[in-house]
Amino acid sequence: MKILAIETSCDETAVAILEIFAKGGPASGWKGQTFKVLANLVSSQINIHKKYGGVVPEVAARKHLENILPLLEKALAQAKVTQKDIEAIGVVYGPGLITSLIVGIETAKTLSLVWQKPLIPVDHIKAHILANLIEGNQGEFRKILFPALCLVVSGGHTSLVLLKDLKKFKTIGQTRDDAVGEAFDKVAKILGLGYPGGPIIAEKAANADKEKFKLPRPMINSRDFDFSFSGLKTAVRTEWGKERFSARGGSALGGRDKEAIRSMCASFQQACIDVLVSKTIAAAKNYNVKTVLLGGGVSANKELRKQMALAVKDLTKVKFFQPDLHLTTDNALMVAIAAYFEYKEGKGKFKNAWGRIKVEPNLEL
Ligand code: KG4
Ligand code: ZN
Repeated sequence: MKILAIETSCDETAVAILEIFAKGGPASGWKGQTFKVLANLVSSQINIHKKYGGVVPEVAARKHLENILPLLEKALAQAKVTQKDIEAIGVVYGPGLITSLIVGIETAKTLSLVWQKPLIPVDHIKAHILANLIEGNQGEFRKILFPALCLVVSGGHTSLVLLKDLKKFKTIGQTRDDAVGEAFDKVAKILGLGYPGGPIIAEKAANADKEKFKLPRPMINSRDFDFSFSGLKTAVRTEWGKERFSARGGSALGGRDKEAIRSMCASFQQACIDVLVSKTIAAAKNYNVKTVLLGGGVSANKELRKQMALAVKDLTKVKFFQPDLHLTTDNALMVAIAAYFEYKEGKGKFKNAWGRIKVEPNLEL
């Protein structure tokens, strides 16, 4: 079966086509089934939003409108398929920016109606989690052992999600204020580094002194699995103000202060990682999980990937998976995977569903 998926929840317009060879049929669960990625296209708007220092929803929506149909055409051509080869359509209906989501939803609804294909609404966060199921462009789905725990870290979310199986998701902890990706973006702004902050901070942090600035590890010892990153961001602002004052008597930092920027990036990144890893390991122990997963844009962070892998290694008999790098940030392939697992559980539900599906910007897992 071939599934076409669309994602427009924030500032990436994305279309993917995934083929699944379901050997054992729906009753056999997800094991033994193989996949092949036929197309996975992302049209990023980063260069447009960069000059505003963040995503401007109205601008994002207009760009989605311009991009979506050409991208769809390109994906079908690349996959060498036409509408008659597509069995079902998956689309993200939330959470995300309402103006952006609407473009993907309305496109998918129209296709579903005109092509007469089932339409599967997909939760963006579930899609980030299920991105862990595939590795490379084809092969068997990865075998996740349950219960599993996923640390979801993106621009809008920081949560620990417990999976009883591929259908039962429960949030056991989440951020009380800023998401960690948001903190990366805001800290980059404080340091004058541009948008999006995550990749820039990660690059500057490489091989820099992560001990130079003493930053807090918020809520690291709280007994729950919640997070908080807003105080850490404020601590960076305060420390950075002191640094600027002592370096230049308050004036802007010059070339010789590049080292200080790198140290601040490394110190901040390590503070985030310490909290994320420590809470994930505590939750993994508490819930006796058999697999730990990562998901979301911040899981592109190489240090986080490395340090989480090491920490999970110390737990006995716990598997660790992380999404392929290009599947960490927003993409439609993860949506196709999530759509497939929803669809195979009850195909009938999604027939003529286009009339019932609505955008849910504040959708909760
Ligand atoms: O999942 P995503 O593409 O969009 C949302 O659903 O929010 O995540 C985007 C976030 C941004 O905040 C970005 O700064 C962050 O992921 N990010 C990173 C890295 N790459 C992207 N954060 C830390 N390190 C990275 N290498
Ligand atoms: Zn996302």
